[in-house]
Amino acid sequence: MKVLAIETSCDETSIAVMQFDADGSFKLLSNIVSSQVKIHAPFGGVVPMLAKQEHQKNLVPILKHSLVETDLLKIRKSKGKNQNDNTKDIILKEILAREETLLKKLLPLLKKYKKPDIDLIAVTNGPGLEPALWVGVNFAKALAYYWNLPIIPVNHVEAHIIANWLPDATRLVTSTKLPYPIICLVVSGGHTQLILMRDVGVYKILGETRDDAAGEAFDKLAKMLNLGYPGGPIVAKIANQFKIGTLKFKILKFPRPMINSGDFDFSFSGLKTAALYFVKTLSSSQLKKLTPAICAEFQQAVIDVLAQKTIRAAKEFNVKTILLSGGVAANDFLRETLSLATNHLSLDFSVPPKNFCTDNAAMIALTAYLKTKKIKINSWKQIKVDANLRIT
Ligand code: KG4
Ligand code: ZN
Repeated sequence: MKVLAIETSCDETSIAVMQFDADGSFKLLSNIVSSQVKIHAPFGGVVPMLAKQEHQKNLVPILKHSLVETDLLKIRKSKGKNQNDNTKDIILKEILAREETLLKKLLPLLKKYKKPDIDLIAVTNGPGLEPALWVGVNFAKALAYYWNLPIIPVNHVEAHIIANWLPDATRLVTSTKLPYPIICLVVSGGHTQLILMRDVGVYKILGETRDDAAGEAFDKLAKMLNLGYPGGPIVAKIANQFKIGTLKFKILKFPRPMINSGDFDFSFSGLKTAALYFVKTLSSSQLKKLTPAICAEFQQAVIDVLAQKTIRAAKEFNVKTILLSGGVAANDFLRETLSLATNHLSLDFSVPPKNFCTDNAAMIALTAYLKTKKIKINSWKQIKVDANLRIT
């Protein structure tokens, strides 16, 4: 079966096509990710209404590109217009009533090309930015209605976890199974959660951030230091300059919030405030000189807390695997720290290739496919956005 997946929960517009065969193997046929980083960079963070607008502009060109890439786009033979076409257009306009730009781009594509050889539509319906999520969901509904296809809503956090089962690029992979139970650390711009996973679809949230997400903390530090957006990769790169010894500033010590709290929750807003107070004491030349030290200490503080709590959860729940995922999982220092700790405990460690850590629709396609075995497939009418959707 072929799954067409759509992801618009934040500032990446992504569409993927994946093929699943009866022997359990799967192949990623296409995974296009269009980043809106340049649009949001001047604001130092994602502006939800701008994200909505960009998703509306991007979805149809990306869909077309992915259908061309997978050889699924075939021109329709014109039969002239009939009564049924008019009814279809009316319903399509109702589905996309709040996405006029998208509707204008989608209608010509649907008229010109045949229904592609797709069996299922998958779409992220939460958690995420509500206006951004609605664009993807309404687009998915429109396609499911027009092409008469079933649709599966996917939880974005679950998809980040399932990204660990994705193949590299287009390599065919057969049932790569990690031993359960698994402690999953999901760290991104919007989420920081420690989740106990007993199987695909069986999760328990052990703890989560009480304020900022880990990625958000990096983004806010970068904004404070005028380094650009998104902050995570820039802070990590500058922290590296410090590590290789061009500058040394040993006295700098930021707090490790909640590291000994006894639970599995996190808090990063106090760390951000500590960095801000320190930055305010510096002249601009001192700030320039100390930026690598600040980035390195900030990164170390975030990773100390994340790693310590993850390892404690792994021991307490006697798990067999530690799994890392989400945008911040692209951080080399976090990958190395958890990999070393896991090795030390003789556990399995899993983290996706970096391109599957940040938002992508391939992880949505695979999650949807795994869900087809466990849940009832929905009709497009039942799909709703839940910006605060929680993994269960
Ligand atoms: O998963 P993602 O693409 O989007 C959300 O679901 O939020 O994650 C984006 C987040 C951003 O906050 C970004 O700064 C962070 O992941 N990030 C990193 C790195 N690469 C991306 N944080 C730390 N180190 C990195 N190398
Ligand atoms: Zn994400």
